[in-house]
Amino acid sequence: MFRIVNREEMAGGTIILNEIEAPLIAKKAKPGQFVILKATETGERIPLTMADTDRQKGTITIIYMVVGKSTALFKTLKVGDGYQDVIGPLGKPTHIEKVGKVVCVGGGTGIAVLHPITRALKEIGNHVISIIGARTKDLLILEDRMKAVSTELHVCTDDGSYGHHGFVTEVLKDVLAKGDVRLAVAIGPVPMMKFVSKITKEFNVPTMVSLNPIMVDGTGMCGGCRVSVGGETKFACVDGPEFDGHQVDYDELMRRLQAYCEDEKKCYNDFCTMQQAS
Ligand SMILES: Cc1cc2nc3c(=O)[nH]c(=O)nc-3n(C[C@H](O)[C@H](O)[C@H](O)COP(=O)(O)OP(=O)(O)OC[C@H]3O[C@@H](n4cnc5c(N)ncnc54)[C@H](O)[C@@H]3O)c2cc1C
Ligand code: FES
Repeated sequence: MFRIVNREEMAGGTIILNEIEAPLIAKKAKPGQFVILKATETGERIPLTMADTDRQKGTITIIYMVVGKSTALFKTLKVGDGYQDVIGPLGKPTHIEKVGKVVCVGGGTGIAVLHPITRALKEIGNHVISIIGARTKDLLILEDRMKAVSTELHVCTDDGSYGHHGFVTEVLKDVLAKGDVRLAVAIGPVPMMKFVSKITKEFNVPTMVSLNPIMVDGTGMCGGCRVSVGGETKFACVDGPEFDGHQVDYDELMRRLQAYCEDEKKCYNDFCTMQQAS
């Protein structure tokens, strides 16, 4: 049992933070790596990136958006409750290097994944310009934490309720036009990563993205998480989750993410009906 020691609700309860006791994982985890969690014995295996780790306390922090049945079940867990299984750290850690000026672009819950990577890039001595965005002000997360680990922070909302009115890609263009950016990191919805990569390619800036395909075992055995990168098949759980953003076939990834949409919707609706009845 992996006990929850801290729980926060963000974005009106649609995004949840859980700090979980997992000393062995906390000791080994590096930025960019993820865990697979199961709430109950028969529960679904859900991959989530570690937004933070505390070696002294022996805890890891996950931040997830409630989108379907399993994340809705996770939301019911309170401080003192526990996850049945937490497996990790999984995936390759982010390659952290001092390159000079770096731009980190995060969208939605992707900001949680971006946070430890941004901190590591800044700690090693990079000049880090972060651009974070959400659909609306109430859905924006971790602004203070991102500010603390960035040299410069830009905030955008699609509806203009806070910060720059528009997409992160608009601010990105301005930042790139000023020159000297040596690396871009983009984490968020697949269309966002697709368009960030398109822009950075025009400016010839190497770009790293973190992919979120459907995962099953997380060990490279099942093939569920396969993605096409540079014309080759890669498994995001063992070869990634980070890849060269200019080489990813985003359209194929989006199609594969849609594969179980109808079943997932039904599962979620059944779960909500059951919750209301109990
Ligand atoms: C390596 C990795 C790291 C991840 N890290 C995080 C994280 O830190 N925080 C976080 O909130 N999520 C993260 N995700 C996504 C998360 O795993 C899924 O949102 C979760 O599995 C949904 O489970 P569910 O049963 O609640 O919803 P489901 O019933 O499986 O899905 C409900 C709906 O949500 C959407 N959806 C489901 N999975 C995804 C996905 N992978 N990407 C985009 N939309 C999806 C679909 O539209 C689907 O119809 C990560 C995924 C991977 C592969
Ligand atoms: S999740 Fe099975 S191969 Fe990656």
